[in-house]
Amino acid sequence: MSDRADPPIPASNMDRRELLKVGAAGLGAAVLGVAASARSGAASTPQSNIGQAPAQLFAAPPMDVVRIGFVGVGGMGSAHWRNLLRIEGVELKAVCDIVPEKVERMQELAVEAGKPKPKGYDRGEWDFVRMCEEEELDLVYNATPWEWHVPICVAAMENDKHAATEVPAAYTIEDCWRLVENAEKYQKHCLMMENVNYGRWESMVLNMVRQGVFGEILHGEGGYLHDLREIKFSSEGEGLWRRNHAWTRNGNLYPTHGLGPIAQCLNINRGDRFEYLVSMSGPSRGLQQYAKEHFPEGAPQRYEKFALGDVNVSLIKTTNGKTIYVDHDTNLPRPYSRIHLIQGTKGLFSGYPNRLYIEGRSPAHSWEEAQDYYEEFQHPLWKTMEERAAGAGHGGMDFMEDYRLIQCLREGKPTDMNVYDAAALSAVCGLSEWSVAHRSEPIEFPDFTRGRWKTNPPLGIVEA
Ligand SMILES: NC(=O)c1ccc[n+]([C@@H]2O[C@H](COP(=O)([O-])OP(=O)(O)OC[C@H]3O[C@@H](n4cnc5c(N)ncnc54)[C@H](O)[C@@H]3O)[C@@H](O)[C@H]2O)c1
Repeated sequence: MSDRADPPIPASNMDRRELLKVGAAGLGAAVLGVAASARSGAASTPQSNIGQAPAQLFAAPPMDVVRIGFVGVGGMGSAHWRNLLRIEGVELKAVCDIVPEKVERMQELAVEAGKPKPKGYDRGEWDFVRMCEEEELDLVYNATPWEWHVPICVAAMENDKHAATEVPAAYTIEDCWRLVENAEKYQKHCLMMENVNYGRWESMVLNMVRQGVFGEILHGEGGYLHDLREIKFSSEGEGLWRRNHAWTRNGNLYPTHGLGPIAQCLNINRGDRFEYLVSMSGPSRGLQQYAKEHFPEGAPQRYEKFALGDVNVSLIKTTNGKTIYVDHDTNLPRPYSRIHLIQGTKGLFSGYPNRLYIEGRSPAHSWEEAQDYYEEFQHPLWKTMEERAAGAGHGGMDFMEDYRLIQCLREGKPTDMNVYDAAALSAVCGLSEWSVAHRSEPIEFPDFTRGRWKTNPPLGIVEA
C-alpha cells in the first residue's frame, strides 16, 4: 500500500505553500544545518543510512513476456504505448490515466493491433495504486507529470513490480533516495527512461568515446534549450502542469536530456561520480512577457509570477576532476539545442550543428562535418534497429530505449541505466535549486551508490 500520508503535490491544482514543500524550500529544509564538508568546502546533502549498496549491478530473473501497466498516456506516454505495441515479448495488461478518454484510446489502439484489451484504470489521481495492487504485472511504466513519478514508482515496487519512469525521475534529494531505498529494499529495477542516451548522434559519440577516438574525456556540455512558452501556456498537455513548477522553483528543472549522454561518456556511477555542483539563474522575463503578448487584459495568466530564471547554468565537478556544464533555457525565443559537447585529450564532438575535430585526422584547427564519420562510427544498435525505429518519437530514439528496456528484462540483464543513474541525474534539479538560492554556493551530490561507483563496470556498447 502506498504511503498516502506523504502525497505528491499535483502541480495542476496545488496551493503554492504546498509546492514549497517539494521545491527548493523542501530541499533547503532537508539540508538545514549542514556543515561545509571539510574536504571540499561544498555543502553536503542528506545521506542515507541504509548501509551498503549491492556489489553487483541489479538484474532480475529473465522473463519470457513482460507484463506492463502504463500510467499517464498523454503526449509521451501514448508514444511509448505505441512503441510497446510493436515490441515482441510485451503484454500491455493495464492502462491508467485521470482522463477516461485517454484510457479508452489506448485500449482501442491495443485492440486494433490485435492484442487483448488492457484493463482501464481511470478513477482519479491515485487509481494507479489500485492498478499496482490488483494487477499481475512485471513492470509499471509511467509518463505522468513530474510530481507523480516517485509515488508511482514506489507504489509499483511496494507491490512487487519493476518501475520505469519518464524524466526527471524525481526532483528533490529526499525523493531520489526514496527511489534508491525502495529499489534495494524490494529488489526491483527502478529506472529513468532517458531517451537521449539512445539518440543517433549521442550513440555514435559514445561509440567513438569507447574506441578512444577523442582520447581521455575531460569535459562535457549539455542542456535543454527549448522554447516551451507556447506549450507551458497551453490549455492541454504540459500546459496543465509544467508551468506551475516555474512559479516557485528556480534552478535546472529538466537536466537529464543534456546530462545523460555526458554521464555515459564520463562513466558516471561506473568509475567516476558527480561530486559537487554550483548553479546560477538569471532573471525571469520570458513567461511574463509571453503572457502579456498572448492573453487578453484581465486574463489570470497575465498576473502569474515566476521564480524560474529564464536561463540557468550549472557546473558539475566529478570526483576524477572532470567538468560538466549544464544549461536549462525554456522560456525564451530560440531554436532547439541540447549542446552536446564532449571533449577529450585527442579531440571533441560538438552538437547543433554536429561537427567534430580529431587531432591527426581532421585538418588542423578545423571542424569537420560529423555526418562524414557516421558510417564508420554508427552505434551498432542504430545499425540493427534503425529501420524498425523509423517513425517512432524523437527520430527513433524513443523506440530504441523501449526496446532495450524490454530486451534487458527478458534476458535478465542489468538495464542500461539503473536507479543510481536515475537518482544522480535527477538530483541536479534539487541541488541546482539549492545552489541558486544560496548565491551559487557549491553543494555536494549524495553518493547514491555508496562507493560502488568505484567498481561498477562501465556501460558497454550494447546491441539489439
Ligand atoms: N523523454 C522525452 O523526450 C520527453 C518528452 C516529453 C515529455 N517527457 C516527460 O514525460 C512526462 C509526461 O509528459 P507529457 O508531455 O506526456 O505530458 P502530458 O501532460 O501530455 O501527459 C501526462 C499524462 O498524465 C496524466 N496524469 C496526470 N496525473 C496523473 C495521475 N495521477 N495518474 C494517472 N495519470 C495522470 C495526464 O492526464 C496526461 O494524460 C513528463 O515527465 C515529461 O517530463 C519526456
